[in-house]
Amino acid sequence: MHQLYINTIGCQMNVYDSDQIERALAPNGFARTDQLEEADLVIVNTCAIRAKAEQKAFSFVGRLAQLKQRKPGLIVGVGGCVAQQEGEKILARAPQVDLVFGPKAIPRLARLVERVRAKRLRVVDIEDSDGIEELDLSSGFRDDGQVARFVTVMQGCDNFCTYCVVPYVRGREASRHPDKILEEIRVLADGGVREVTLLGQNVNSYGRKENLGTFAELLARVNRIDGLARIRFTTSHPKDLSDGLIDAFGRLDKLCPHIHLPVQSGSDRVLKRMNRKYTRAVYLDRIARLRHVRPDMAITTDFIVGFPGETEEDFEETLGLLETVKFDGVFAFMYSDRSVAPASGFEGKIDEAQKKERLQRLLQQQEVFTLSSNRALIGCEQEVLVEGFSTRPGLAEENVSPRQWSGRTPGNKIVNFNPDPDCAGGDAVHPGLLVGVRIEKAYSHSLWGRPVRVEEEPGGYKGDTCHAA
Ligand code: 5AD
Ligand code: SF4
Repeated sequence: MHQLYINTIGCQMNVYDSDQIERALAPNGFARTDQLEEADLVIVNTCAIRAKAEQKAFSFVGRLAQLKQRKPGLIVGVGGCVAQQEGEKILARAPQVDLVFGPKAIPRLARLVERVRAKRLRVVDIEDSDGIEELDLSSGFRDDGQVARFVTVMQGCDNFCTYCVVPYVRGREASRHPDKILEEIRVLADGGVREVTLLGQNVNSYGRKENLGTFAELLARVNRIDGLARIRFTTSHPKDLSDGLIDAFGRLDKLCPHIHLPVQSGSDRVLKRMNRKYTRAVYLDRIARLRHVRPDMAITTDFIVGFPGETEEDFEETLGLLETVKFDGVFAFMYSDRSVAPASGFEGKIDEAQKKERLQRLLQQQEVFTLSSNRALIGCEQEVLVEGFSTRPGLAEENVSPRQWSGRTPGNKIVNFNPDPDCAGGDAVHPGLLVGVRIEKAYSHSLWGRPVRVEEEPGGYKGDTCHAA
């Protein structure tokens, strides 16, 4: 057996790709380890979305030079978006790297690694073919006890937002065949996975090019998979979030009432320069419709602050949007120049100190809304899918046992709770079970409560989740 260490940087799609890398290399006798020192093959799965992520990848690759000196047989591979973007240049920059491969090369990875190993060659594969080459899934997946997993349903992006590298490094949109997706999720569900998050840069356009049916139709089919309890998806683009997809939230019992709908800015002027193809009013209309269909819908978003040319007035419109929507949670980033993306040539660059100041103002303002959306659940019973033990030390006031269970609500909020002898079945809690938890405390990043009912295996959860409308 050879040891494979993967360092995953970036988004959920990279988390999924790292699992695929593990699967692709299993037939070559590689098994994943979390001990870097023990590895025979180290792969860095990189992200190019912002300069910081790219720097993180290169600094890790830098550290591997020392490891390779101590362990000359070590193979070092660089995959993901930076690999796709930089290609050969990585070999020139980092002599310790043996292999550079883009996201689309994962199905060919076993052969690439063999070439490096047998011939001691340095290999680059960043071929950007159209469509999707499926990985042979016969090696199955390693059951590592995770009950919630990601499944990529489409790759690439055709939207060309002016700040973004994705269309350049992940190529044009291409969707996987629904039969392949369903087959993969069935295998996961049979192995004990209860929740899947379907991934794509823009899931709303799933299947459009290839005539594979709509995303709402795909969701309806996933909803029928036995054993699976929950479905999520990410990411949606507001410009083509269809009524059909919104209605799916009211129709499909396993589809969780949570949507991540990146808005990026509250200013129409900035949205236009970002090439987002929607206005603030259109965005607000989509939010209203989502809340009409599911009043308990949790809504999260992404913002970029300090986009070239963003004025104080533009930024205040963004702050105004926070007030209007009252998101459940927000991810905010300082604009980062990416040389392949058109915005890197735009005028009106904002200096770092100003970007930082705007970021802080935005996060500070949002903190109030995040906390109040969490507080609104106090007193409610929430259905929690138990994922494992909490990594957060219990607070003294909670009088907690050293090990608390941790999981998520349908709205994707983290809930920690103690084993409770007064709760029927409470002593039989384990990852993968749905537990009704009465929420007693709310913090900025999590909730805390007491279990009041536990799903009877293998039956479904029959709790009466209450919602903060
Ligand atoms: N600079 C800063 N943030 C970016 N994002 C994408 N490109 C950039 C960039 N050049 C953010 C967007 C996107 C999230 C995944 O990353 O908010 O939704
Ligand atoms: Fe990037 Fe825009 Fe595509 Fe999202 S929709 S991946 S931000 S180009």
